[in-house]
Amino acid sequence: MCGIIGSIGVKNAVPVLLKGLERLEYRGYDSAGICVVTNNSLVVIKKTGKVAELAAHSAISSLKDTTIGIAHTRWATHGKPSEENAHPHLDCKGEIAIVHNGIIENYHKLKNELEEKGHVFRSETDSEIVAHLIEYYYNGNLERAVIMALKKVEGAFGLAVMHKSEKSIVAARRGSPLVLGISDGAMFVASDVSALLDYTSRVIYLDDNEVATLTSKSYTIKTLEGNMIRSRAVQEIDWNIDKIEKRGYKHFMLKEILEQPISIEKVLQNRIINNRILLDIKIDINTLKRLYIVACGTSWHAALEGKYIIERIAGIPVEVDYASEFRYRNPLFIKGDAIIAISQSGETADTLAAIRLAKEKSLPIISIVNVVGSGIARNSDSVIYLNAGPEIGVASTKAFTAQIMALVLFALYIKQERNDIADNEILNSLKVINCSIKEVLKSREEIKKIADEIYASRDALYLGRGMQFPVALEGALKLKEISYIHAEGYPAAEMKHGPIALVEEGTPVIALAMEDVLHEKMISNIQEVKARKGKVIAITDSQSLRVSSLADRVIKVPKVLDILSPIVTSIPLQLLAYYAAVKRGIDVDKPRNLAKSVTVE
Ligand code: G6P
Repeated sequence: MCGIIGSIGVKNAVPVLLKGLERLEYRGYDSAGICVVTNNSLVVIKKTGKVAELAAHSAISSLKDTTIGIAHTRWATHGKPSEENAHPHLDCKGEIAIVHNGIIENYHKLKNELEEKGHVFRSETDSEIVAHLIEYYYNGNLERAVIMALKKVEGAFGLAVMHKSEKSIVAARRGSPLVLGISDGAMFVASDVSALLDYTSRVIYLDDNEVATLTSKSYTIKTLEGNMIRSRAVQEIDWNIDKIEKRGYKHFMLKEILEQPISIEKVLQNRIINNRILLDIKIDINTLKRLYIVACGTSWHAALEGKYIIERIAGIPVEVDYASEFRYRNPLFIKGDAIIAISQSGETADTLAAIRLAKEKSLPIISIVNVVGSGIARNSDSVIYLNAGPEIGVASTKAFTAQIMALVLFALYIKQERNDIADNEILNSLKVINCSIKEVLKSREEIKKIADEIYASRDALYLGRGMQFPVALEGALKLKEISYIHAEGYPAAEMKHGPIALVEEGTPVIALAMEDVLHEKMISNIQEVKARKGKVIAITDSQSLRVSSLADRVIKVPKVLDILSPIVTSIPLQLLAYYAAVKRGIDVDKPRNLAKSVTVE
């Protein structure tokens, strides 16, 4: 949700900033802008649309030998996507520039106060007030002015600021992520390490309420109270550029779908030794009475699977909440409760807020996160990292299957710690699940043909029962978010309570018909769809002819343990959505109105 990059010290900051924006574009892509200092003045260039349009702007090529700059790619919250609303924003005199990610909640009040003092605003954004507030406090020391301004601000910010006459960039964060890049003779700041990897692998994650001042050769970090932080570990990032490049694939989403045999394996790496599970969980598992899982989007669908998985394997009751609902519904806690937060990015604002609430109530927090060092990870007592590698495509794919793996691992760990029992059947199946995924991926061409048949549909229904119900929700989400086809996921038995009214001749109904205890019931539901002339696309592991004789199309998946089946059934649905969206001509990595990490409420 908005990407920030700043660079100081490299000979020409412009290509660094543009490359950084390109890497951050998954965070927002409705407009972009850049600000650099040339001849002791700030030059700002902005453009609506994607970063490539900014890079092609005629004025960009005239910017040379400029060593300091900040840039931004936007996902609109306050004010439409337009050049005025694009960042960087300037103060009245055009001497201070800011780029901001987050939301200034008291911006109305601050704007009125500043307008009364004579400040003139050029945009509809909440962010612009920060530039004016800094201008108000500025008396020759940018860092001091930023600190004073931020004391007045309520809300979330990842911020980078520059002044035309100061050879520094001041960066600050509260709620929105920010990472510093350290290199010899150059310093960087960005919303995410992917923007820095071309230049350095040495990074420092800023914490909330911290301000960093970067010059080309040094950096300082202070709290917003002005206290210097003397020692802050520099972390070495072990990803390489290769992992964040498309490497010949048309889209990141396809690359990430196809990476799943590997990403799944990574979840297990070094975590199962002699059939014992090793997880760094810092809570006493024996005191656990109930678990709340909080998450958003695709991660919430993984959370729903987590309920089935943990209740079945570990025998502990689990409640699942949308993080955004959890934080406002005053949940009733009892002794023995703990929270699991699931998040690919580790920075989703609602999930972060939900764990902060839990922290206030002294509940232990375990998070299942992909991005190392992210806010959710740092606010948790224990973290299970997915190790799935960067996920760039806006629609989450490999993170979902990795989250399910992590949940199974955690459930097995609880069982092991409480009863000293290793569930060898599940453990052994986990170790070979990647072979089943490879099998599923072989059906790509077949799935593409089915996508070609349904891509022009207006609606689609996804039906599943038991553990296939969250898969149905996830399949429907994938289709709607990247192809814009209206899609709904339902527990199959609920279909007759409403959604069946949508079924008409040819309506695609994707039925998850695994050979489990609910198989017969699912077959009845398929019959109900066929009676209304719906087009049934069945995902099944069944060898019998019953599903294939009823369904219009069948996607076969290999038989795996019931508890692991969502891993193999969700992948064909990812591919179906992908190919339908491509056929509709949509930029699947950057679908309209969406952003990869949602750092605002
Ligand atoms: C956004 C993304 C989704 C993601 C959700 C939760 O909406 O577009 O793909 O599932 O945020 O994100 P998280 O990073 O917390 O898993």
